[in-house]
Amino acid sequence: MDMTISQVDPAFKKDVLHCFEQQSYAIPARWLYDRRGSELFEEITELSEYYPTRTETQLLESYSAEVAEISGAGRAVIEFGSGSSVKTPHVLRAVQPAAYVPIDISGEFLAASAAQLQTEFPELPIYPLEADFMRRLNLPDEVSGMPKLGFFPGSTIGNMIARTSVDLLRFMRETLGTGSQLLIGFDRIKDADILVDAYDDSAGVTAQFSLNLLHRINRELCGNIPVDQFRHIAVWNDLYARIEIYLEALSDVRFAIDNSRFTMTEGQKIHIENSHKYGLRDARLMLRAGGWSPVREWSDEKNYFSLVLAEAHPFKNAP
Ligand code: AVJ
Repeated sequence: MDMTISQVDPAFKKDVLHCFEQQSYAIPARWLYDRRGSELFEEITELSEYYPTRTETQLLESYSAEVAEISGAGRAVIEFGSGSSVKTPHVLRAVQPAAYVPIDISGEFLAASAAQLQTEFPELPIYPLEADFMRRLNLPDEVSGMPKLGFFPGSTIGNMIARTSVDLLRFMRETLGTGSQLLIGFDRIKDADILVDAYDDSAGVTAQFSLNLLHRINRELCGNIPVDQFRHIAVWNDLYARIEIYLEALSDVRFAIDNSRFTMTEGQKIHIENSHKYGLRDARLMLRAGGWSPVREWSDEKNYFSLVLAEAHPFKNAP
């Protein structure tokens, strides 16, 4: 799928040029998810080394009924970054919502997955919302009077640094309102070898996912980056409790993007993603910092992944 220049997101161009012009050598992870990137991410979720998706899905299968007991029926379920919405049916079946609002930045993906869910839940009012959930947003009028249950699975919050995570949690609280609840997935801190394997799989799918960013730059921004002169690397940063993903130049390279020329030297790295991992107490503190009080937690027996249900209690002065 070739994109014409007019379809290129100006923010993508700005971020990429900033990376090389200011020599920050960092590009926000959100740009990994063009159509090809989203396909490759779906492939990642099926890899044997990539435990998060299947672990979280099992948790939802096992414990959605307990979530429903606490939440009660009749809430509007608001899913942030719904993507292909594969985990959603477990939750919808259990909590019997009054409405479902999937929010995603990719309208194409959103329409397809909403239509798919509608066939599975013919009675459920679905109001898809094409929006960037990293900003404050207005929910559809139809759900304004309903109590809300936010759903933020996949440890998507792991892509964000702490400050951004807290901003997002606060936005979510504003969007959903006092008295709402939030069901959120956190990927846990575990053995570094297991983490590194999950982000550097033996079949090389994650490497393709990372390298697709360079292909995307070439495709959309008239670039000629020699993609075969870069390699994907995943390293565990213990101080920040995160996996960091880089694209490393294998030789001295020169290339052009949008008529500007750049060089990188052998061994130089572009930082393209962080995936933060959390202890349970880290997750609780993060939620409280964003205005959410943890109510209940569920983890698998290896403690690889946790679901946390939190509530937006009315603010009161600290004692
Ligand atoms: C979509 C952010 C949850 O961090 O595990 C997976 C992205 N990147 N493999 C993650 C990702 C490479 C993923 N999240």
